[in-house]
Amino acid sequence: MQRTAFLNGHLVAFEHARVPITDRGFTFGDGVYEVTAVVDGKLVDNFAHLRRLSRSLAELHISNPYSDKEWTGFQRDLIAANGLNQGVIYLQVTRGAAERDFAIPSPTLSPTTVMFTQVKDIMGSPYARDGVRAVTMPEFRWQRRDIKTISLTAAVMAKRLAAEAGAQEVLYIEDGLLTEGGSSNVFIVSADGTLVTRSVSNALLGGITRHAVLEIANSQQLNVDERAFGLEEVRCAREAFMTSASTFVVPVISVDGHLIADGIPGPITREIQTRYIELARLGGCLT
Ligand code: PDD
Repeated sequence: MQRTAFLNGHLVAFEHARVPITDRGFTFGDGVYEVTAVVDGKLVDNFAHLRRLSRSLAELHISNPYSDKEWTGFQRDLIAANGLNQGVIYLQVTRGAAERDFAIPSPTLSPTTVMFTQVKDIMGSPYARDGVRAVTMPEFRWQRRDIKTISLTAAVMAKRLAAEAGAQEVLYIEDGLLTEGGSSNVFIVSADGTLVTRSVSNALLGGITRHAVLEIANSQQLNVDERAFGLEEVRCAREAFMTSASTFVVPVISVDGHLIADGIPGPITREIQTRYIELARLGGCLT
């Protein structure tokens, strides 16, 4: 099957999806993105992703060129065109193309919109089964981590450092407290069995999967605490896991080479992982 992409309102052959070199996404990283999971050919939690897209765009004063209904229609067409069963759909909106200048051009540019799909065995991945190793590093990104910007140089650097240390994810530490993972939100099960994750602020991305996991935890009557926590608490945790749309719920089995509990994914993580997959198959969270 020929690979198809989406560019500015049209489905086009992947190799014909091209943008001008003066696109501000290319020259400034001036744009935002979303990654939505696809399970059984259906979008997972897409409404929440589109809501966050609108918010990110509004924060950058970029207009959203399409309504949620239009975006969803395009996404479904793209999934069908690529015959995607399980994987992700990547969506990007940049401010548009203009002669390079930091000042935002006036009149407003026409945003560039791009989407493509990627095949991925999210639920059957060895990391989902066996867990990942994480390493910590000082938080060195900007102060608006709540915006899902395409400027991801810091994340690329951090992931390289993690890989060099034999790990799959990085945990950022700021003022002695964990903010989030390189491309995930982080949860721990504390010594007293409480599920803990940092509350949402400008310090981290308000993850859509994170939100769904909190809904699951509430429905399971788990004790939940949304608060900041430090490295020592992670090291002493009974369990730890990370969440993202492209990986769902993945156990974290060690941090900086120190095993979490016995280094085996824990029962609460497994339960939440199973429940999340059930929810994803139903299209995600309703709230
Ligand atoms: N990243 N924090 C960061 C920095 C992220 O990049 C992501 C997701 C998350 C989790 O958010 P969500 O549950 O909405 O996916 C948290 C995506 C998957 C990516 O960049 O590929």
